[in-house]
Amino acid sequence: MSTDRLRLGVNIDHVATIRNARGGDHPDPVRAAQIVAEAGGDGITVHLREDRRHIRDDDLLRVQDATGLPLNLEMAATDEMVEIALRHMPHAACIVPERREERTTEGGLDAAGQHNRLAPIVARLTDAGIRVSLFIAPEPRQVEAAMRLGAPVVEFHTGEYAHAQAGNVAEELRRLSDMAALAVKNGIEPHAGHGLTYKNVQPVAAIPQLRELNIGHYLIGEAIFTGLEDAVVRMRRLMDEAR
Ligand code: PXP
Repeated sequence: MSTDRLRLGVNIDHVATIRNARGGDHPDPVRAAQIVAEAGGDGITVHLREDRRHIRDDDLLRVQDATGLPLNLEMAATDEMVEIALRHMPHAACIVPERREERTTEGGLDAAGQHNRLAPIVARLTDAGIRVSLFIAPEPRQVEAAMRLGAPVVEFHTGEYAHAQAGNVAEELRRLSDMAALAVKNGIEPHAGHGLTYKNVQPVAAIPQLRELNIGHYLIGEAIFTGLEDAVVRMRRLMDEAR
């Protein structure tokens, strides 16, 4: 059993998705961020996508100022996003792969195959004092690539675990657990996220090396039925019980 508290970062992108469906200003992601803070969330995560399909530039500043919680900006490895990150100075920047046609971030970043493209970006953000995280698949070559890039944090993509058929769940969990251990052994702080729900969160939360989970779509979906505060409190409780 681990004594370290596992942080919960709540991704509020889909509050903006609902707002944008009508083009007005309701529901406001700022209000969501405030509720997350009151409910015991440890951080706010937003993904400013190239097509601005949910979070927009003005949301960044408003969300950042809305609570005392650290802001984790998910961003593609592009010049535009690096400039925005340097202007806003979020606590953390999580570099994610991004394709226009995808519905969500469907896989991990190929940190191993893109070393030369990522190295200057990781260096610029790090030099500015932003904590860089790389959203990678739980694979040894990606952890080793993160090490070579000097990233202090990796976030493991839990999509394969979340979508695994019954027979493969244990194997996916083992990969996450082994890679979390490898990350820590190499001085990297491991986080995890994608596709986590009340049903599947506990085995991941029980991996002692993990320090943070980032959860979005499911929590915002549950918030429709029971409210955001209740959803965050419930997820928090499940995570704590698993530790
Ligand atoms: N972490 C990262 C880096 C993400 O890009 C996302 C969204 O795809 C999440 C966590 C949260 O995933 P979900 O919305 O499925 O909980």
